[in-house]
Amino acid sequence: MTARVLPASEGIDEAARVIREGGLVAFPTETVYGLGANAFDARAVAHIFEAKERPAFDPLVVHICDVEMLQSVTSQIPKAGQALAQSFWPGPLTLILNKTEKVPGIVTSGLSTVATRMPSGAHALKLIDAAQTPIAAPSANTFGHLSPTRADHVFRDLGERIPLILDGGQTTHGIESTIVDVTGDVPTVLRHGAIPIEQIADVVGDVDARTSSTSNPTSPGQLDHHYAPNAPLRIAAPDQAPSSDAAIVTFDKERAGSWSQSVVLSPAGDLNEAAANLFEVLHQLDEANPAAIYIELVPDVLVGRAINDRIRRACASAR
Ligand code: TXA
Ligand code: MG
Repeated sequence: MTARVLPASEGIDEAARVIREGGLVAFPTETVYGLGANAFDARAVAHIFEAKERPAFDPLVVHICDVEMLQSVTSQIPKAGQALAQSFWPGPLTLILNKTEKVPGIVTSGLSTVATRMPSGAHALKLIDAAQTPIAAPSANTFGHLSPTRADHVFRDLGERIPLILDGGQTTHGIESTIVDVTGDVPTVLRHGAIPIEQIADVVGDVDARTSSTSNPTSPGQLDHHYAPNAPLRIAAPDQAPSSDAAIVTFDKERAGSWSQSVVLSPAGDLNEAAANLFEVLHQLDEANPAAIYIELVPDVLVGRAINDRIRRACASAR
């Protein structure tokens, strides 16, 4: 099988038909591309795990487009969850909520909670609405690989395993949604993402963060070996000497000039731009196939936390 690639603006009806018939569709969201299936169809969802080679203990995000659909996956939204949904939906926020019986266990890896988000990407919203069912969708990459921010990233990685890719161009945020568990006493960030924890705290006050990786993660996205490019990736020391066969990813134009291969993550020195470019740049460098990639950490504030998180995990897996 080789995936058909349709412009997202023209392919919504066809994609919705594939979803309703139990097939898989890769589609753009405002964060990264997702690999979607009907969330209420356990057999279709099993195909997601198969195509991604994803371990069954790693649960999926269920995408919804309106409140009625939300009520089909969860019957109970705690106050903090309501406030966060009010502030950030549609948008790059995933809430951990108690699930209804309608959500099959394969979606949640047997957990009683479900990760849910209402994306703001227009094509994603239209697809969910046209399919008339919640869509379970992890990032559209083989497990452990870089997340895709363009249709051709998906095609290169999964093009032989899935029937259809909707091409909506490069995604806006370029980094995954922020995951917040609102089922406990204090809202807890499980994955730093496109919405900074500072903004979550502005809405709910007290926030915990439990994003560090362990061998028995609360959110399996916390596993170390995640988001990795093919080339060995290392964190660049402040005094890292230029290397002739390695590339550097940096914020600093002058520093870039002294390396033979270099990428400036954000020419404007802007964290949101850096986040939007991160996976794109690593995908590009993978094509160029340098002997190694050195990458600078960014200031550990706002979306910089999510950027540093992805960099550290990618470096850990490259060890
Ligand atoms: O931006 C995003 O969230 C993208 C787009 C496609 O929406 N999706 C995405 O999905 O990043 P994925 O599967 O790559 O990451 C979802 C993370 C996983 O690390 C998973 O372990 C966690 O969400 N997760 C899912 N259900 C959970 C649950 N019930 N409790 C805790 N963590 C959960
Ligand atoms: Mg992922």
